Amino acid sequence: MVTISPSILNSDIGDLYGELRKIESADFAHVDVMDGHFVPNLSWGLPIVEAAVKSGIIPIDAHLMIEDADRWAVAYAEAGCASVTFHAEAAAAPIRLAREIRRAGAKASLALRPATDITPYIDFLPEFDMILVMTVEPGFGGQKFLDSMLGKIRRTRKAISAQNLQISIQVDGGISRNTIEMAAEAGADTFVAGSAVFGAEDAHAEIEVLRHLAGRHCH
Ligand code: DX5
Ligand code: ZN
Repeated sequence: MVTISPSILNSDIGDLYGELRKIESADFAHVDVMDGHFVPNLSWGLPIVEAAVKSGIIPIDAHLMIEDADRWAVAYAEAGCASVTFHAEAAAAPIRLAREIRRAGAKASLALRPATDITPYIDFLPEFDMILVMTVEPGFGGQKFLDSMLGKIRRTRKAISAQNLQISIQVDGGISRNTIEMAAEAGADTFVAGSAVFGAEDAHAEIEVLRHLAGRHCH
């Protein structure tokens, strides 16, 4: 099944509820937390994410681009996020952390920067509900999709199928009408799109176009 999760990173955060309403036909709102250390950009933290959850408009998919995920990630699950994604590169004990996130009631998801391989995590796949294969270097919206990531998406899908698991593969960065089909064909089923959705004249219509294009390849 295709899942669409628009990123609100480059939306008008002064009108958070209005922006969330623009995308309420999507499956999740993707909320990017950046600490200015793990990535060279600073966005917002727990209070904004709590406000997004409290709005009740759409389930929240939190993407934590922060150092020391072991220390901070569980609070996002306790705040009511539907899913919490932390980076493999920022967690000292990813298995323990995934278990804590699940225990706090959220889906646990592992993100990989472009240069991080999936291979060391293959034996631990059952600990996760989703793997995020970054298709740009994390930090900013509006970057170009790295098609060199398609191999990693394929390898991840293969490893998931080989273990008979039901795990989503999310792609994030440069997803648009021009790239979503490539990512879906390679095995992604969950699509983050920031500029493609918030830059469109009609966000709802764009979500439906993306859903349709991905649906040609996902089953
Ligand atoms: C980038 C963020 C993305 C970003 C995507 O580090 O993780 O979620 O908002 O933006 P687009 O879709 O414009 O590449
Ligand atoms: Zn993101």
